[in-house]
Amino acid sequence: FTVRVGAAGADAAPDLWGLFIEDLNDALDGGLNAELIRNGDFEFNEADREGWHALTGWDAVGEVEVRHEDPVHENNAHYLRVTGPAVLANEGWDGIGLTEGDRLWLTCFARAQGEPVRLETEVGDGLARAGASVAPGGWQRVEIDFTAAATGRGELRIAVPEGAVVDLDCVSLRPLDTDGEPLTFRPDLLAALQDLRPSFIRFPGGCLAHGLGLENMYHWKRTIGPRHEREQIRNLWGYHQSRQIGYVEYFELCEATGATPIPIVAAGVCCQNTPGGGKPIPESEMDAYVQDVLDLVEFANGGTDTEWGAKRAALGHPEPFGLRYLGIGNEDQITDAFRDRYARIEDAVITAYPEITVIGTSGPQPAGPDYEAGWAYARERGTPMVDEHGYQIPRWFHQNTDRYQAYDPAEAKVYIGEYAARSNKVRSALAEAAYMIGLERCPEVVKLASYAPLLARVGHTQWEPDLIYFTADEVRPSASYFVQRGFGEERGERVHPVELEGVQAVPVALPREGTARLRSDRATVAFTDVRLDGNRLPDAVTSAEGEGVLLGGIDPTSAELEFEAVQQEGIEGFTVVLGPEAPQSFLEVHIGGWQNKST
Ligand code: AHR
Repeated sequence: FTVRVGAAGADAAPDLWGLFIEDLNDALDGGLNAELIRNGDFEFNEADREGWHALTGWDAVGEVEVRHEDPVHENNAHYLRVTGPAVLANEGWDGIGLTEGDRLWLTCFARAQGEPVRLETEVGDGLARAGASVAPGGWQRVEIDFTAAATGRGELRIAVPEGAVVDLDCVSLRPLDTDGEPLTFRPDLLAALQDLRPSFIRFPGGCLAHGLGLENMYHWKRTIGPRHEREQIRNLWGYHQSRQIGYVEYFELCEATGATPIPIVAAGVCCQNTPGGGKPIPESEMDAYVQDVLDLVEFANGGTDTEWGAKRAALGHPEPFGLRYLGIGNEDQITDAFRDRYARIEDAVITAYPEITVIGTSGPQPAGPDYEAGWAYARERGTPMVDEHGYQIPRWFHQNTDRYQAYDPAEAKVYIGEYAARSNKVRSALAEAAYMIGLERCPEVVKLASYAPLLARVGHTQWEPDLIYFTADEVRPSASYFVQRGFGEERGERVHPVELEGVQAVPVALPREGTARLRSDRATVAFTDVRLDGNRLPDAVTSAEGEGVLLGGIDPTSAELEFEAVQQEGIEGFTVVLGPEAPQSFLEVHIGGWQNKST
């Protein structure tokens, strides 16, 4: 066949490829956060996960009491009173790995009761060892700088001598860089993100931004300042948010990767999946909330003569962070409460900061009430950009390479804030690549796109697939990662029209026997009629499991109905008729392991 490439047309969207980072799958604590101690603040609790408590992650030998009177800070309410002889041990996430010569920085708050107390600390069996003395008095910050004498993996142990009584909190162990500065980000994961050459980073969520309940909403001001003053809360993905990576660290991550920041603030309502619905911030608190959003822009961009610009400088960053985009909301239902809260926030931002591009929200692709309502609302308001999400089967991505050709460039621009093909990794990666070419070819409509989720600690995932898997000492990029990296590195500059001539459809050869499998992607689908080359199933099969009902779920592979197919010679295709109650949903049909048709 012949490929005809026409003259250069529109310029490529300059910020097109970026990242979306959310604290999901232990992406931050136990992941990108370079902290080596798990639950160093003793703030894990039953609300995070059933069975968790202040000593989760710790082993104690000796007398140890969890206390909360007169804490280091009200936001760090629990601490330990340790009566010697006692040893506290923390193995971090699957052990603390050291290489000979590594420099480490251990810090904690300690309060000696009565006599001075000598703390002896050790990692593994003699991998690194140091001690410090705590004078009697109030809370003191203890800092120990030590060097690994050997290579290995082990736990951190803190020994308190016989007769001594000491309160301990905010125990932290971080590697030091070559300049002696404690690391914020785990270097190998940071390098994996840098290699993607992201134009932007969207954070902190996702669902995490609006939270499961008003008390779970992400408020940026509560995540800055000294670590022990930050508000720690339940992570709606089933664990704990220490917020050691808070707003300043997110901005620093953008700097470290050369990306422009895209913070997402809740649209004044929490997640609609909260039991009881997506409650709005009470009227009495709404003005303060809108002001918080405006303060965020000032914190990022304001001069050091502004209140929040000065706070940024006081936190060590006098230069502005260069905020250009701000997202409001995430996959929200467009309720009256949402409309009211969103409008107030958007109006305030656009009035005060017309140079900022506000990004609104729609429900997930490809369609559906939240998607339609989100877009209708954006049109009504003239919102400059809309964030839409798509987790679909690979076939959908192939079928939707031209999806955005149908969007009107005069309407809101599109940010595809989350997308991933959900199937076997290589097949997904190829489907994403095809789709991404489609995105590249619509620069007047699609301005930004980010794969999701980004990071996942092996054995600690709440969501699959993910772009970069990792263990305690290994980074395991997925096939999709290499697609993202290729697009990030080799940016197109202009869009050329392309025509193919002489291409013929290749008929799919069906195996003569094998397993036919029908699979739904997300929804519950009832099949009233399934036909294999005109023969109604199960007439065309020797056996069928299930009752013709597929229970789709978030994991598409869990929703399968298998038929063993026979007499397939001459079969040209399937017809699948959905029951009238079936929602708009995509199906995959497999024969002998090969996907042949979806409808
Ligand atoms: O990426 C995982 C989740 O998927 C996000 O938090 C949410 O926005 C979407 O539903």
